[in-house]
Amino acid sequence: MRNIVILISGGGSNMLAIAQAAQREHWPERFQARIACVISNRPQAGGLAKAAELGLATQVVDHKSFEGQSHPREAFDSALMQAIDVHQPSLVVLAGFMRILTPGFVVHYQGRLLNIHPSLLPAFTGLNTHQRAIDAGCRFAGATVHQVTVDLDDGPILAQAVVPVMPDDTADSLAARVLTQEHLVYPQAIAEWLSRQP
Ligand code: GRF
Repeated sequence: MRNIVILISGGGSNMLAIAQAAQREHWPERFQARIACVISNRPQAGGLAKAAELGLATQVVDHKSFEGQSHPREAFDSALMQAIDVHQPSLVVLAGFMRILTPGFVVHYQGRLLNIHPSLLPAFTGLNTHQRAIDAGCRFAGATVHQVTVDLDDGPILAQAVVPVMPDDTADSLAARVLTQEHLVYPQAIAEWLSRQP
């Protein structure tokens, strides 16, 4: 059985969509893959309760508990890697995980580390993607599932979902439309990734 570990920071709607797809599509039987743990860097992340309701194991590695150390970012990533590697994952999924990871972390998981970014990469890397798309007059926006590399929001693209930008869109209305598509494209991209792995 291959283990998937999902990292969250907030509501975990993408994690929930993935977990529900894994149950609905019988990933353990079809891909010999299961969600071994949902790990959050924030103790109050709403996604932790959602994961527990689905019977998934959860864990918190609170990034704030490393502040004040000489190298807090590296110390957090090291603790996070230890928590993840307990499960010896075939795949680590960033799902609304709002931390920039150190190169050491990324290299350790490279090739088995996925993320979803709320824009049509390579356009609009970074934050506030929906407002930037509206401000640029884009007619379309969307989300991108990609391999994580040391360059932020830059790795090989696995899948994209496109939505129209409406004339009266706000960042929130566009974000909601994109998020609906994220919940479809991320589970599908992960299932395809699993089917391609030996
Ligand atoms: C989503 O916009 C996703 O694109 C980004 O984080 C946001 C929240 O995701 N990665 P979730 O609801 O916590 O899964």
